[in-house]
This record gives sequence, structure tokens and C-alpha cells, in this order.
Amino acid sequence: MTARIEFRLNATDGKARTGVIATPRGDIRTPAFMPVGTAATVKAMLPESVAATGADILLGNTYHLMLRPTAERIDALGGLHKFMNWQKPILTDSGGFQVMSLSGLRKMNEEGVTFKSHIDGSRHTLTPERSMEIQRLLGSDIVMCFDECTPFPAEEKVALESMRMSMRWAQRSRDAFGDRPGHALFGIQQGSIFRDQRAESAEKLSDIGFDGYAVGGLAVGEGQEMMFDVLDYAPDMLPQDKPRYLMGVGKPDDIVGAVARGIDMMDCVLPSRSGRTGQVFTRHGVVNIKNARHQDDPRPLDEACTCPACRSYSRAYLHHVFRAQEMISGMLLTWHNLHYYQELMQGMRDAITAGTFEAFQAAFHAQRAEGDI
Ligand code: GUN
Ligand code: ZN
Repeated sequence: MTARIEFRLNATDGKARTGVIATPRGDIRTPAFMPVGTAATVKAMLPESVAATGADILLGNTYHLMLRPTAERIDALGGLHKFMNWQKPILTDSGGFQVMSLSGLRKMNEEGVTFKSHIDGSRHTLTPERSMEIQRLLGSDIVMCFDECTPFPAEEKVALESMRMSMRWAQRSRDAFGDRPGHALFGIQQGSIFRDQRAESAEKLSDIGFDGYAVGGLAVGEGQEMMFDVLDYAPDMLPQDKPRYLMGVGKPDDIVGAVARGIDMMDCVLPSRSGRTGQVFTRHGVVNIKNARHQDDPRPLDEACTCPACRSYSRAYLHHVFRAQEMISGMLLTWHNLHYYQELMQGMRDAITAGTFEAFQAAFHAQRAEGDI
């Protein structure tokens, strides 16, 4: 058993990096995509199916699990891995971001956030200390600092105050987390779209010292161009020898662009959520299975894909079960989408290793431009 979580960089190509995060629960190959398992399940998927798509790690959520079934109950039942039957690594988000996007009435001050549950209206408080306690009770392998995801757009002064509070919370998170061999704590850089604020945040986090560093406060409505502008400099401000995690991203082209700019880990609900709304990601772009043009089509979604949906079913069948609202629809399309995302990650890892990431990116964009899917 590895006592400490270690990051080994194996190759770089331009700013893109590939390596391994070694944990007691197994290796995480980077660049890594983490499927989202918010409520102790990746919706519509068995854990062994998620693993079969190539995922090395899942994301779980402090906010949802503290409300239902509660962190204390999961702890009493042996921890989140056992509870949900997923033995590989789990990263948990710290809760603040979800409080702001999901909960009812909320009040934030220096101490933390008080809010009403979106499930039953009950009152709860999250602080850096309580978030660390919940993530410990869950048994999370990679714990995220408690932060405020600065809304976009934000006035420069407002963003600065928000970022500085997140940095004080980062110190409190670090102190409360303590020393837990085999478990990692990641800091979260904020600073909105302001370069000097991103630099100040990165410096503060490096001074405190974390096992990894996230870029937060992006994919919040600024658009891809502005996000890439920030990613052109923000990852470079973070320590080279630790993993860098871009939170909540994204579409396939966001992911490729982020990796090109030095990002090692990402998470997004898009592949799993889209699987339930009939949106399918393929090498040639997005297919909407709801479209009537699929109803007589005997071809698979993607003839080159080896997932169960593409191996054994026609577009006509997938169209039918989606229209009929059969549960197998969400199961098959989610599997395909997660498979597609993991193949994309493997393709990038191979290209970075081979020193051909530039050509990989060109081919990725060219295939999508071909159209007619
Ligand atoms: N998810 C997406 N963005 C963020 C962020 O800035 N902070 C946290 N904690 N989670 C996120
Ligand atoms: Zn497929």
C-alpha cells in the first residue's frame, strides 16, 4: 500500500502532461476525466460498468450526501466506497459550490454558509471545518478545500474579496484536515478572470501547501474563449509537480483545450446527464437520438465505438427506447457517453506520451468539422 498519494509525471508535450496519481485505492491515469456520482451513484450505471468505461476515479458531493443519507450514516455503514460499491478512488467536492447553485435561502459570512436544504427545507451549516469532517466521514480519497466559487461576472473588488476569503478558508481547511496519510487535500484557486488575483491566489495556496491544486471559478458562464484566456496563464501559476484539476469542465473540446493548457484532471455531469436527455457525444460531434431521422436507421451510433450501445444496438432501437422513455435508454446512452469521454482521455494520454499531441488536436477538430452524423 502506498502510504502517501504521489503524482508522477511521465511525459509532457508542449504544456500538456501525462502521468499517474498513485493512491492506496489504485492509480489515476492523467489527464483524467472523473464521472460525477453526486448521490452515491453515477446515474443509470452500475459501478462495474463505470469502471469498464475506463474511469479510474469518481466525483462525489459533500452537499448532497450530508443532506441525504448524511455523512454520519455513510460512516456508520463503512464509508462511501463500501456504501456505493466503488473501490477505486473518490474525490469529493466540498459543498460550497453546490450550496450556491442548489439550496434555498442561504447566508454567507466569514465563518461559512448557512442554508436551507433543497430536499426538505431543513437548515444546515457548512464551514471549512465541517466540510473537512464530512469528507473524512465519507472516506474521500481526494478532499477539496471549502471555497466560494466566485459568480460570473464579478466586479474586480468583489472578486478580490471573495478570493481572499476562499484563501482564508483554504488555510482553515488545511488546519482542520490535518495529516491523513493515504488521503489528499487539494486547494482551489479563485480570482475570476483577473490575472493578478489568480497569481495572488496561487501564491497563497502554494505557501499553505497542498497535495494538488484546482482551478475553480471557471465554466460559470464566461464562455470558452474567456475560459481559455484564463487557462493560458492560470495553470502555470500552480506548482509543476502536483496535479492540477479544472473543476466542472466540460464539453469534449473544452477538455482537449484544457489539457493543452496544462490541466491534469476534470469532472463534468455532461456525459452522464446528456445520456439521459438523448444527447450523444461522438467523434464527429453531437447526435440527438430523439431526432426522427434515426427511426429507420439500422447503423450503430458510432461504428468505431466498442461500447455496449454501439456493439449491439441500432440507432433505430436507441431512438425507440428514448421516445418510449424506457430505462435502458439512459443506461445505454450514458455508457456510450462515458466510454467516449474515457477514450478521448486515453487518446490524449497516448498522444502526449508519443509527442504527437498537436496532431491529435488537429485530427480531433477535423473529425468534428466533417459533420453529417
Ligand atoms: N465546481 C465547479 N467550480 C467550482 C469551484 O470553483 N469550487 C468548487 N468547490 N467546486 C466547483
Ligand atoms: Zn458507443
